[in-house]
Amino acid sequence: MKKRILLGVTGSIAAYKSLYLLRLLQDRDFDLNVILTSSATKFVTPLSFEALLRKKVFVEFLDEYPAGNDHVDLASSHDIMVIAPATAKTISSLAIARPENFLLATALALPPHKVTIVPAMEDGFWNHPAMQENITKLREYGYHVMEPEVGRLASGKVGAGRMPDPEEVIEFIIDVLTPKTKHSFTAIVTAGPTREFIDPVRFISNSASGKTGVLVARELAFRGNKVILVAGPGVPPIKHRLIKRIDVISAQEMFEAVRESWHNSEVFIGSAAVSDYTPVEKKKSKIKKVDDSLILELKRTPDILKWVGENKRKEQIVVGFALETDLSPEEAYKKLLRKNVDLGVYNQLSEEFNPFGSSNNNVVMLTRKEFKTYKNVSKEELARILADYIESLK
Ligand SMILES: Cc1cc2nc3c(=O)[nH]c(=O)nc-3n(C[C@H](O)[C@H](O)[C@H](O)COP(=O)(O)O)c2cc1C
Repeated sequence: MKKRILLGVTGSIAAYKSLYLLRLLQDRDFDLNVILTSSATKFVTPLSFEALLRKKVFVEFLDEYPAGNDHVDLASSHDIMVIAPATAKTISSLAIARPENFLLATALALPPHKVTIVPAMEDGFWNHPAMQENITKLREYGYHVMEPEVGRLASGKVGAGRMPDPEEVIEFIIDVLTPKTKHSFTAIVTAGPTREFIDPVRFISNSASGKTGVLVARELAFRGNKVILVAGPGVPPIKHRLIKRIDVISAQEMFEAVRESWHNSEVFIGSAAVSDYTPVEKKKSKIKKVDDSLILELKRTPDILKWVGENKRKEQIVVGFALETDLSPEEAYKKLLRKNVDLGVYNQLSEEFNPFGSSNNNVVMLTRKEFKTYKNVSKEELARILADYIESLK
């Protein structure tokens, strides 16, 4: 069933961002309602929200709503409320449970863990000791308070208090809405390609984007798990308090980062496309165009998945990705089993389908019990499927 979100907008200069936030929430297929404070209506009009929502927004008590406990009914018919932007005044009123307008009365009718607050204010307001005390208090009560950004403020000054961009607010909301893993763990996720330099300018690599690995790291972090993301070159950025990112270039560096952390982790997910070979010798200067042909001598890189499987304690879980052009899922699984892998993620690269860089994928999840095919799933959905598998193995 669609999740129902109540978006609250207060009187900040950042209120214009909430129109775009509403659009992004609609794209994610949430069921939405909007409440504005009367000061918010001076910054953005109810009409703008209504045009996007195609229904009335709420401003005052009993405004276009059947009489009774309208704020209580409205609150209880939503999964969460998101106040974005939240002014200093609204935050202070929440901290002392003062229902001085319809938005606050609705927010106070919800248990704190169902309310997300996205502050927006001048840095002087934000850094004020009374404000910081209120924020600490609200977090202790169970409210989800997003950290504002340091950036250019409405006054032109640079400081802390800026409302984060709607894309980041959405990430925060999805995090809040994601059910948490019962017994949380630490996972290592490798992502992206590696580069094996031939000379100072050229390298051997592949076109892995790292998208899947990043989305797996994100999903696990949203579920409350710590993640060590070992990222090859070009892996997209990801910001989350539970994700520690280690950037590496070569297969050897990736191996060293994994080796360092494996004994303190419970899960390994090898989604990186690691080079199997590296030049025997890296030339100190750029190779000149002299001969008609050039022979490069290559040697094997460390097999990270094999090492992890060989050094696995009983309770640790290893997930191996197998991108194949010729092997069937059965053959790929046999190969993975030899490396002591608990769960295999098989995908095939063919002339019709190339998973590199695309946002969708066709995969077969390989376990001792069964092989299960997932066709044309988004990489975000694949990350959820994979996280479910890991939770079921724990
Ligand atoms: C141009 C302008 C911009 C404002 N921006 C902010 C802001 O970003 N954050 C804030 O806390 N207050 C801001 N205020 C002050 C609030 O609008 C004021 O405290 C208002 O009473 C908030 O009411 P509300 O929280 O019920 O919406 C601004 C005021 C003006 C005139």
